Formats: sequence, C-alpha cells, structure tokens
Amino acid sequence: MAREFTRVGVVGLGTMGAGIVEVFARNGLDVTAVEISEGALERGRVTLTGSTDRAVAKGKLAEAERDALLARVDFRVGLDALHDVDLVIEAVPEHLDLKQRIFAELDRVCKPEAILATNTSSLSVTEISVATSRPNQVIGIHFFNPAPVMKLVEVVRTVVTSADVVADVEALCERLGKVDVTISDRAGFIANALLFGYLNHAVGMFEARYATREDIDAAMKLGCGLPMGPLALMDLIGLDTAYEILDTMYRRGGRDRRHAPAPLLKQMVTAGLLGRKSGRGFYTYERPGSPKVVPDEYTPPAGDAALADGARAIAKVGVVGSGTMATGIIEVFAKAGYEVISVTRGAEKSAKVCEAVKTSLNKGVVRGKLSETDRDAALGRITWSATLDHLADVDLVVEAVIEELSVKKALFASLDEICKPGVVLATTTSSLPVIDVAMATQRPADVIGLHFFNPAPIMPLVEIVRTIRTSAETSATARAVCAKLGKTGVVCGDRSGFIVNALLFPYLNDAVRMLEASYSTADDIDYAMKLGCGYPMGPFELLDVVGLDVSLAIQRELYLELREPGFAPAPLLEHLVTAGYLGRKSGRGFRDHTRR
Ligand SMILES: NC(=O)c1ccc[n+]([C@@H]2O[C@H](COP(=O)([O-])OP(=O)(O)OC[C@H]3O[C@@H](n4cnc5c(N)ncnc54)[C@H](O)[C@@H]3O)[C@@H](O)[C@H]2O)c1
Repeated sequence: MAREFTRVGVVGLGTMGAGIVEVFARNGLDVTAVEISEGALERGRVTLTGSTDRAVAKGKLAEAERDALLARVDFRVGLDALHDVDLVIEAVPEHLDLKQRIFAELDRVCKPEAILATNTSSLSVTEISVATSRPNQVIGIHFFNPAPVMKLVEVVRTVVTSADVVADVEALCERLGKVDVTISDRAGFIANALLFGYLNHAVGMFEARYATREDIDAAMKLGCGLPMGPLALMDLIGLDTAYEILDTMYRRGGRDRRHAPAPLLKQMVTAGLLGRKSGRGFYTYERPGSPKVVPDEYTPPAGDAALADGARAIAKVGVVGSGTMATGIIEVFAKAGYEVISVTRGAEKSAKVCEAVKTSLNKGVVRGKLSETDRDAALGRITWSATLDHLADVDLVVEAVIEELSVKKALFASLDEICKPGVVLATTTSSLPVIDVAMATQRPADVIGLHFFNPAPIMPLVEIVRTIRTSAETSATARAVCAKLGKTGVVCGDRSGFIVNALLFPYLNDAVRMLEASYSTADDIDYAMKLGCGYPMGPFELLDVVGLDVSLAIQRELYLELREPGFAPAPLLEHLVTAGYLGRKSGRGFRDHTRR
C-alpha cells in the first residue's frame, strides 16, 4: 500500500521550483511553497500565476481550476513552514554546500517520516543525503524544464534509499501524470549526461564563430526535429544553472573535457546574462522571465532582399548524380522554378532518375500538395543528359555523386574545364572536406558545400558550408538559392560534421556508452530523451534508423578530425557493426526489427 501524500513542500521557487509547485497543485496536492525572502517569494508567485494564466488563456485550464490550484498553495518564507509536509522537494541553486545546509535544516524541521527529495541535476544525491539523519528517506526527483509540460521524471535512488521510499515516489509520479525512470546516483543521470555535452559543444561552436546563434539553433531544430535549438535551450535552463551542472559533471564524471564549461558561459554568468530569467542570454527577451525573443544587435536582417545582397543571378542549374540525394535535389530545384539539367553516367540511369522524380511529383499531386499543371511544369523544366559538357552554360552545379573524395575531385576538375566563368560549384558531401574538392579546381572561391538532408524534397534544412577560400558572393548566392527553394540555409565552417552531425553523433555515441556501462536500458534512455527533452526519437531508435555503420563512419570522421577523446566511437557500436547488426536495414541493430 503506497503512502498517502496530502501536503508537500517545495523549497526554492525559481525556474524549476515554481513549475514543480504547479505540477503538485494541479494534481490536487496541498503545497507549502518556500523561498528565502519576501522578494523571491513574490517572484515565485508571479511565475506561478503567469504560467496558470497562460494555461487558462490557451484553454488548457478552466478559470475555476486555476483558482482552486492557486488556493492549494501556501507561500511562505523560511523552512519552518514545512513542519507538517509528507514530502519536500528542494529546487535551490545547484551548489552542494547550499543543498547540504538546507537538507540538514529540513531534517530538523520536517516530520520524522517525511521524505526529503532533491531536484538536483548533477550533484550527488548521496552526498546531499548524508547531511541528514535519515539518508534512507532521501531521494532525487528530477523534473524537466518546463516541469508542467515535460512528462519525464528521473527518480534517483542512492545505495541507502529504502525500497518503500522509491516505490512511494514512483506512485506519486504516476499520480502526477508523469513517466518515471528509476536510476542510480550518477552525475547527470540519464538525460543531462547525454544533453549537456551537446549543449556545451554548441556554445563552443558559437564562441568560435563557427556559425551564428540563429543558424546553430535552426540547424538542430530543422535537421533533427528538436523542439528548440541548443542555445535557446541554454537560455531556458538558465546559464548559471547550466554552468553549475557542467562544472559538477566535469568534476564528478571523469573530467571529460566536453563538460568543462565553455569560457563564454562563465563570462555571460558573471555579466548577469542568465538567459530568459534575466531577460538576456544568448538571445534578448521582451522582459525578464518572458519566453518572447526580441531583435537585438546580433539579429540578422530579415527578408529575401537581405539574403540576395551580393548574390549572383541563378536561372539554370546542373545536378550531377543519380542517387537518392540527386533525385530529390532535381525535384526541389525544378519545383522552385529553376531550369535543371540532370547529368548521370548513362541513359539507363537517367531514365531511372526521371522515373523516380515523376513518382515523387505524382505523390505530391495525390496528396493535394501539387497541382497537375505545376507537376507538368516542373517536369518540363528538367533536361536529362549523360554528358557533363551540357553544363557549359549553367549558373550553378550541385554535385551529388558517391561519397568518395577521388571521384568528387575528378568531377570538380572536369567541371572546372567545362563550366563558364562565374558559375557556383556546390558539393552535397556530408563528410568530406569541401576545401579538398574546391582545390581540385582553379576557382576555389566559387566552390561551396550545400548539404541537403534526406529526403531533400521534405527536409527544410540546408547547411551552406563555406571554406576558407569561398567568396562572399558565392555564399550570398547559396543563401539566396536556399531561400528561393523554400529551405532554411544555415551557414557554417568547413569542419567535420558541419553543424548537425557534429552535434548529433557524439550524443548518440554517448548514449551507446551509457548502455554499454549498464547504467540504464535502451528503452529507458530513449524514454528519457523523448519525454524529458522532447526529442522526436530516442537515441537508439534514431541509430537504428540512420544505420549503425553510417553512424560509426561519421563518428570516426569526427574523432579523426577533432581528436577529441570523448568522440572515440563506443566499442559496443563497433561490435554491433562488425556483427552485421546495422539497424532497421539489416533487421537488427539495438533492437530486433524482425519480430515487430
Ligand atoms: N533550470 C533547469 O532547466 C533545471 C532542470 C531540472 C533541474 N534543475 C535543478 O533544479 C534546481 C534549481 O534550479 P533552477 O534553475 O530552478 O534555479 P533558479 O536559480 O531559477 O532558482 C533557485 C531558487 O532558489 C531560491 N533559493 C536560494 N536559496 C534558498 C534558500 N536557502 N531557501 C529557499 N529558497 C532558496 C532562489 O531565490 C531561487 O528562486 C537546481 O538543482 C537545478 O540543477 C534545473
């Protein structure tokens, strides 16, 4: 029989605490909400009423429900108010000494049978628990931000937490409508251990001016379907909190350099740029606490005119290749009104590509996304050829042939001889250095990477890869072309993995390492990322879809180029590939797909 919770306490009403109060009160529990001062209490109250008012405005909460919810919350200054609660959850800043002091005090104030919980993201629950005389009743209840929205709760049991306390807390999570994963006490638990290396890496990219904040965020949202980009997420988490989490993970988690907070973070925290809560972080917000981003001095000018500034006129486009990417790219350009010359290695291949483009366009018609007239017009714009010489007068060439450097270099050397001056030569490579391809020509300033995502007609993102020789005019042209294609073009440097793969694959590799270390199961890790961070797929689902061999190859490239020890491919990933477990395509990867 699970313990009955009627009154709970929340200590600290900041970003997380205020949300946790809302979760409890919304589910019928009485809450004593405690802060350190009247001012902080008032801020917590404003956050809670702001959030519940928004829920009412969106029709997600009736006015009467909101009033009942608020009536269940007793706002107090000082921990003494917690003498009669059945459970208390602490959500004060991420400092061990502060939390230990608070737990010692809670131990003194609270009923002997009360459960004492911490919402820490990275500190040791065990170390916090020993500040009390009841470590067996201390547990981690790690909510995700925003607490009222995110479904996941990580329940962290230490070696001394008693089994009935774990069971009672699991039952409470269920009552709150949350999905819980119960894990042991390790820095970052599941989700943050996988998330923060990625977030810190994104900050490093921004700090190195590898790409703009808008482009880094757009890349991860559009390329991976994440609910928000990493820098916007840092602002939501709070840069001071993020700094502390990284710092603790670095110290507790084996001094992995990837968790050493990017120097920029420290500077921003010192400067009071804490993210949304202070009104400014990586972005500027309407006012402190507001989710609304307002333009600032770093906001790029909007509109096509700004994009087209300095761009060359492009009307005729050559696409070289006959694979999946080439086929999709031909369709994308033809639909956007460009005249397209498709060049393959023979009439038979051209016929196949032509058929594939027709089939895809027809699907668009069947789904009501394309009129028959537009389909016919698009097809009418495509010329099918098996000779590169036909590219003599195109304005842009997009190369999408096999991912082999020698083949691409030979092709670019030929294009250099055939194409007119002023043409933009683009490669769709996803892993080779664009500069290698550019140097196969006498005109490296005109060469750029256009990394489309698969399937090209659907995926809204293109990474525009500038080499150190690419001219500003070529970049501007690439941006203008992407805009005309209806794609979001993000500009980045010529480094392994560009933006998306460089940020995505180390995270996937880390998930494999976590599984390998038997910290959790593939199912729970997938749940944690989906329900805690809003990812469309968990890491193991995604690895099985992408293919373990492809993932391993990308991870190897990243490791070889960046020499980051933490990027070394996980041995388990290598073994699965060696064993022929490649994911969905081979019927088995991290999961067995033949039995479903
Ligand atoms: N921000 C996130 O996304 C996130 C997500 C999950 C967990 N966490 C964890 O939750 C905890 C709180 O983080 P946050 O981001 O909400 O921090 P925050 O800075 O937004 O809020 C902390 C609050 O604690 C109050 N406080 C400080 N000392 C206190 C005391 N002695 N008694 C009562 N209140 C006190 C502060 O006034 C402040 O309102 C941290 O352990 C953090 O790691 C944060």
